[in-house]
Amino acid sequence: MNDRILHPALAARVCSAEEAAAHIRHGQTVAMSGFTGAGYPKVVPQALASRMREAHAAGEDFRVRVLTGASTAPELDGELARAEGIQLRLPYQSDPAVRERINAGTLDYIDLHLSHVAQYTWFGFFGDVDVAVVEVAAIREDGRLVPSSSVGNNKTWLDQASRVILEVNRWQPMALDGMHDVYYGTARPPNRKPIPLVQPDDRIGERYLRVDPDKIVAIVETDSPDRNTPFAPPDEDSRRIAGHLLDFLDHEVRRGRLQPNLLPLQSGVGNIANAVLAGLQDGGYRGLTAFTEVIQDGMLALLKSGVLRMASATAFSLSPDGIDEFNREIDFYRKRIVLRPQEMSNHPELIRRLGCIAMNGMIEADLYGHVNSTHVAGSRIMNGIGGSGDFARNAYLSVFMSPSTAKNGKVSSIVPMASHVDHTEHDVMVLVTEQGLADLRGLSPKQRAKAVIEHCAHPDYRPMLQDYFDRACRDSYGKHSPHLLGEALAWHQRFVETGSMRR
Ligand code: COA
Repeated sequence: MNDRILHPALAARVCSAEEAAAHIRHGQTVAMSGFTGAGYPKVVPQALASRMREAHAAGEDFRVRVLTGASTAPELDGELARAEGIQLRLPYQSDPAVRERINAGTLDYIDLHLSHVAQYTWFGFFGDVDVAVVEVAAIREDGRLVPSSSVGNNKTWLDQASRVILEVNRWQPMALDGMHDVYYGTARPPNRKPIPLVQPDDRIGERYLRVDPDKIVAIVETDSPDRNTPFAPPDEDSRRIAGHLLDFLDHEVRRGRLQPNLLPLQSGVGNIANAVLAGLQDGGYRGLTAFTEVIQDGMLALLKSGVLRMASATAFSLSPDGIDEFNREIDFYRKRIVLRPQEMSNHPELIRRLGCIAMNGMIEADLYGHVNSTHVAGSRIMNGIGGSGDFARNAYLSVFMSPSTAKNGKVSSIVPMASHVDHTEHDVMVLVTEQGLADLRGLSPKQRAKAVIEHCAHPDYRPMLQDYFDRACRDSYGKHSPHLLGEALAWHQRFVETGSMRR
């Protein structure tokens, strides 16, 4: 008897990845597990990509619409993109092969708030889900599923898909069992009720995922690791950004606007976010909580030291070293981590109720506080909005961070007018670069522009920005948010044409 597949009837449905992939056909909508490089199916997407290549070689079209939790890993996004097998992708990606095709205009991408994906699927906004491919740690005797290292949209995929393929991954530790909290109380309007979560560590749902066993058409056994890239040690800019932000939090505590153990932290991914978490380690805080999307290496360290009391998320995003640490100390972490569906980890009602402190990266911000998280020069997608909008719009404090320049100083991250807006001036409270921090709360547009130029712009670009702002104040059509429209956009066009925003 397979100790990971305990349901007798289902044990008979074990097959190869190739046999499983044969259930997927051209034009179908395929919903896959995976949130960052955690909990994504490891072998069926590769077998599907092989079938796609064969079909293309025979002159047949074979592409599918791919829905996931968020970004995945090369075995999923990279393989399917390189096989030219993705017709449409949503809601988030960070894969170079996918990005290349989106920006070449050959792959359609819908960049969505992560909290919207599950409900848009129930509402029928994406049409039918034909097949779900979901990684789990085990199948119980009663047919319920032990989730693996991410929950993402799996509850919705299992519920909504006509057919289900499971990958049972032996690499995922069984000690994950008990870490998940899958809430089944959601309903469609007009029948919605308040979600009964009032503290980040509340458990309001079930330990296992439900699935109708009759829908399961194939089960594939795997033994493959999750894959996330290692973090670079924080560089000088990241450390300075973290330093400004931590000084600001201390200041807010002194002013009585934050309590001594802050409020639940949401932290984006990446090196700046990790530097902020590393800075918190020595910040003198204890007993903090996190209500966030992903648990990254820095959070494990904070849990270990007691700076963080617990963390709620939907997935892990750990480096190989982080995975080793987690697996070594899994019993310790299991008591302190809750993994939820992403419609809960990113739920506006919960973020607003808990009063999260949202800290996310950005590509650029403009003088008035509009933030671009997704597009270079207004047209080239980088990754996607991810959960940044879910959190920024509803947080107690919303912070966006970036080095003040990019591309070796040829580009200013502070621009007259953002080339694309993901977060408007109404949702952005604090901007931080290595130059300093602009607290935009309670400031009018022109006051914001002064603060952003003074505190966040790089000295190389400050005179250009000041000159633009002065002339805009003089010559703009309206004087509320002064702009010289052609000139504002010319900054971005200059970068497109010359690789630099400098004049
Ligand atoms: N102009 C042009 N390119 C820029 C730029 C700018 N103003 N700012 C950044 N870039 C480029 C960098 O050069 C780099 O390009 P490369 O990969 O070709 O080297 C790339 O964007 C990533 O920048 P990096 O400095 O490495 O930043 P990062 O890893 O911290 O990522 C975001 C920054 C904005 C791309 C990232 O935070 C993101 O995708 N955010 C949106 C989703 C999100 O916030 N998720 C968390 C919510 S829970």
